[in-house]
Amino acid sequence: MAHGLLYVVLLGAPGAGKGTQAGLLAGRLGVPHVSSGDLFRENLAGGTHLGRSAKSYIDKGELVPDAITIAMVMERLAQPDCDKGVLLDGFPRTLAQAQALDEALAGNGQRISVAPYIRVSEETLLARLAGRWTCQRCQAVYHQLFSPPRVPGVCDVCGGGLYQRADDTPETHKKRIEVYMVQTRPLIDYYRLLGLLRVIDGERSVDEVQAALLDVVQGLGEDGDRAQEAR
Ligand code: AP5
Repeated sequence: MAHGLLYVVLLGAPGAGKGTQAGLLAGRLGVPHVSSGDLFRENLAGGTHLGRSAKSYIDKGELVPDAITIAMVMERLAQPDCDKGVLLDGFPRTLAQAQALDEALAGNGQRISVAPYIRVSEETLLARLAGRWTCQRCQAVYHQLFSPPRVPGVCDVCGGGLYQRADDTPETHKKRIEVYMVQTRPLIDYYRLLGLLRVIDGERSVDEVQAALLDVVQGLGEDGDRAQEAR
């Protein structure tokens, strides 16, 4: 991460559409999409020590401890493909993680470029999480009603099989949203105070949200009033 230029932190509650948008946006911006949730799931699938340490937290809808999470993400950011910047999805999720990221970037003379916040109502979050299907091979995300694959159960992108995440149960959805409200939502104020927050109305279609994000990240405009109260 030595000479990074673009460091985007994508904020939003579970189910807001961070993964959906980040997958599209990273390709357009030419920077890697680094998702802490995907990194944990790769470790779970690979049966690594890290995956085994994280499993009980993920299954319960709780956050994995900061020390484990920060070490995992920092290791990913040290890889050469992150030299031009990165699109972060799901990290940071606590103030300690945000401060660790700021310190790591400052050590390389860098800082966060922008923190778009995809704002969605709780009702929409629950509806989106309930119908989600994910590709086990390439992690592309679908929804049984809002964005179904062309062939049921098969990924449009790579032909891989689709599955429902183990943490996609009604009980875990509620728990993850509660955890988000207490531990992650304070980051909205953190980035607002730094002048980096941009609020995106996430209730719109995938394409409309993507266009708004692209505008914000490329500095072509802003989605709504920067000073508006974020939820
Ligand atoms: P993680 O994988 O990060 O889950 P999350 O933040 O809960 O987010 P989701 O992946 O559930 O939702 P999303 O916002 O990406 O929405 P998506 O694009 O899929 O984390 C999982 C767990 O790992 C955590 O609970 C925790 O235990 C652990 N963890 C991860 N990071 C951590 C960290 N930093 N610290 C500690 N622990 C950590 O979209 C959802 C659905 O909606 C899809 O079906 C999609 O097709 C649909 N959809 C998306 N956009 C739209 C739209 N505009 N219109 C209609 N449908 C849409």
